[in-house]
Amino acid sequence: MSTTLLDMRRSQRRPPRGRSSASGARQLARTDRPQSGQQAGCKGHTPVLAAELLALLDPQPGQTAIDCTFGDGGHARLLAERLGSSGTLVAIDRDPLAEQRFQELAQEVACSVRFIRAGYAEALELLGEEGVRADAAYFDLGMSSMQVDTRERGFSYSYEAPLDMRMDPAQQLSAREIVAEWDERSLARALRDFGEERHAGAIARAIVRRRAQAPIETTLELVDTISSAIPAPARFGGGHPAKRSFQALRIAVNDELEQLDRALPLAWGLLREGGVLAGISFHSLEDRRVKRFLVERARGCICPPDLPVCACGREPEGALLTRRSIVPTPEEVAGNPRASSARLRAARKLTEDREAGE
Ligand SMILES: C[S@@+](CC[C@H](N)C(=O)[O-])C[C@H]1O[C@@H](n2cnc3c(N)ncnc32)[C@H](O)[C@@H]1O
Repeated sequence: MSTTLLDMRRSQRRPPRGRSSASGARQLARTDRPQSGQQAGCKGHTPVLAAELLALLDPQPGQTAIDCTFGDGGHARLLAERLGSSGTLVAIDRDPLAEQRFQELAQEVACSVRFIRAGYAEALELLGEEGVRADAAYFDLGMSSMQVDTRERGFSYSYEAPLDMRMDPAQQLSAREIVAEWDERSLARALRDFGEERHAGAIARAIVRRRAQAPIETTLELVDTISSAIPAPARFGGGHPAKRSFQALRIAVNDELEQLDRALPLAWGLLREGGVLAGISFHSLEDRRVKRFLVERARGCICPPDLPVCACGREPEGALLTRRSIVPTPEEVAGNPRASSARLRAARKLTEDREAGE
């Protein structure tokens, strides 16, 4: 694990936290919304639901925030401004390009900053071992625009590129290896479980058949193979025919769901009482996990409903700040179509008594 410690001056001060709520997030969204591209810079990533996230986290001067998916630092920059010179921002990303962007941000912000280049599950584990405590932690899941738009990284089904899709280019497993080596059953399972692809079996069969003739080396060769396996009526009208398969491969390559399942309780465990955990998801597999985790934290008594009095004595350890997920406004989607499937959820930690994941 590569850990870069640029500067770490931990703040002891912990000012009172203001109240925030979904409606507060919406209100701020109307007045304080960053313009599309404002944080992104040239060829950057436009932060999604930024004003809403900021309203929910409500960072205060002197606090500590953990950005688990730094990317281009769009969200992180907004938070850093609020944390002020006495605050601390810890940023995590497994992509060296994000680390480069972080070095730029580190020169510009007043707060103490630290970058950990690693999977967020491993990075959060490390922070836990160090005894770091935070007032806010958030995930902005999936890929950055920098990753999708760097054609040679092979994330996009729209450009010809070598099959790759690794967020951490030093990692061994790539999409090429999965497509070349996984057996038909494993391929079908990945396409179904990680892409919710209805034609998973047919696509896996087509991949195995095609690679028996010649290796599938590039994104467009794979797109062609996928398209050939999908019945003609299903190929039109439901988005790009390779969208779900590419999502599935990316999730498999980067072990995204396993990372998320491990990371959510770790991030929650680092929060101080009153701290907020937030997640922005881009598909239902992620959103379901974030929702389930947060709802479970906000759950009190788990006694069977026919028991006249509570015997479990369980108290909620968190309070949901978003009963329903927050989605981007039509104006945000018009300015940044990549935001269209985003969903934001958050919960506040009420008590540190119980271990998350129990
Ligand atoms: C949607 S982008 C974040 C964009 C960022 N919020 C911004 O405003 O620029 C997601 C980032 O999370 C990183 N990422 C995804 N899964 C990760 C994981 N398991 N561990 C560490 N970083 C991860 C990706 O490399 C990518 O840079």
